[in-house]
Amino acid sequence: MFFRVRHQKMLHVYLLIFVVLGILVVLGAMIAYHVLLREQHFQIQAAVAKLANGDLKNLHFESAAIYNSVANSADQKPLVIYNRVPKTGSTSFVNVAYDLHSRNAFRVLHVNVTGNSHQLSIYDQFRFVDNTTRWLRPAFYHGHFAYIDFERYGYQKPYYVQLLRKPLDRLVSYYYFLRYGDDYRPYLVRKKHMDSSTTFDECVERDGADCQANLLWLQIPFLCGQSADCWTPGSEWALKQAKRNVLEKYTLVGVTEHMGEFLHMLELIIPGKMFHNASEHFKHSPKSHLRKTAKKHPLSRKTIQKFHESIIWQMENELYTFVAREFAFAYNKQFPNTPSILNGSMGKHLKSSGYIPPPSFRYEKIYPKPAQFQKKKKSTNHV
Ligand SMILES: *[C@@H]1O[C@H](CO)[C@@H](O)[C@H](O)[C@H]1NC(C)=O
Ligand SMILES: *[C@@H]1O[C@H](CO)[C@@H](O)[C@H](O)[C@H]1NC(C)=O
Ligand SMILES: *[C@@H]1O[C@H](CO)[C@@H](O)[C@H](O)[C@H]1NC(C)=O
Ligand SMILES: *[C@@H]1O[C@H](CO)[C@@H](O)[C@H](O)[C@H]1NC(C)=O
Repeated sequence: MFFRVRHQKMLHVYLLIFVVLGILVVLGAMIAYHVLLREQHFQIQAAVAKLANGDLKNLHFESAAIYNSVANSADQKPLVIYNRVPKTGSTSFVNVAYDLHSRNAFRVLHVNVTGNSHQLSIYDQFRFVDNTTRWLRPAFYHGHFAYIDFERYGYQKPYYVQLLRKPLDRLVSYYYFLRYGDDYRPYLVRKKHMDSSTTFDECVERDGADCQANLLWLQIPFLCGQSADCWTPGSEWALKQAKRNVLEKYTLVGVTEHMGEFLHMLELIIPGKMFHNASEHFKHSPKSHLRKTAKKHPLSRKTIQKFHESIIWQMENELYTFVAREFAFAYNKQFPNTPSILNGSMGKHLKSSGYIPPPSFRYEKIYPKPAQFQKKKKSTNHV
């Protein structure tokens, strides 16, 4: 009897211990599982980072200087968009990209817009933005289309670049290009080949269709964008918008006359070393001389005068001088020891490729003090 009761009591105790143990085991398993999951997560992250690193190394970037300074691996696959304006020396620039693409490991793609249109439908804009953002990168896209705003469709800004040329020079170049072609594809018969005896001056005198001041209205709309008012010749708003885009949306806008300086700036600011050695290459490559229109007659004073009186020329010229001034300012700030390019000293004074100017700023008064910095700070602080 006594034994039985005791046995039952023991049974209860065993049961209790069993239940408690069971709960502990389940809890332990849950904790272990959680830890395991976290560990796996870290391992996957590490593997991804390693892959990304390996991927970059495979692209045989040589010097580590710029490469190391960029922490964000997404930035190492830059998307550069050059919406080139016709007859601004764009072929020379694009040739540099084609020459460098293999060594610097990026893709170059031409965007051929149907019917040579400079404007795209809303849905095509979206398709272009979505496709270029997610497809082949790093990449350099070039094509004759007006500025397309990526942020408008909820995407990150790409690196937009642009080159402008003096507006009348550009139009005259285009005029003779249609008649005589250029030295790039000399045997191609151009649209206006039959009309090749009329000079630009004669065209202006006869008030011809190919030399109207309204035709100058091209660099403003290319920088302004896709909206209707951008393409209304003489729109003050379009000029303002173009200037705003130069400063806020474009990474760099240069001028044709300073292509070498433009390339050197790109070397510094486009990550992933996409333009590594670009200005050096431009200086030496026979292919990258400006594509010259085969035949050109100098303009008469009268023609120049007539254009300078037109409001369209004045506005286009305002944008050009704005861009030229901004670019010279940025370049001289970057390379203060080279003579001002505003003074007309071109090309000759180019710093050589690969020269990375030291920063003009540094960090100090860092709290909490990073331990490894303290020694250094002591030795340099008494200046
Ligand atoms: C663009 O595509 C059209 C049609 O395929 C072609 O005829 C034209 O030559 C292309 N333009 C350029 C600049 O390659
Ligand atoms: C981008 O467009 C190309 C050509 O139409 C297509 O082959 C590619 O799959 C597209 N990529 C993405 C990510 O949309
Ligand atoms: C840079 O370009 C020049 C001219 O094309 C070439 O001779 C030189 O080997 C290039 N240097 C590098 C590091 O790619
Ligand atoms: C040209 O250079 C001189 C001296 O370096 C400078 O004083 C002058 O302002 C410059 N002119 C322009 C247009 O930048």
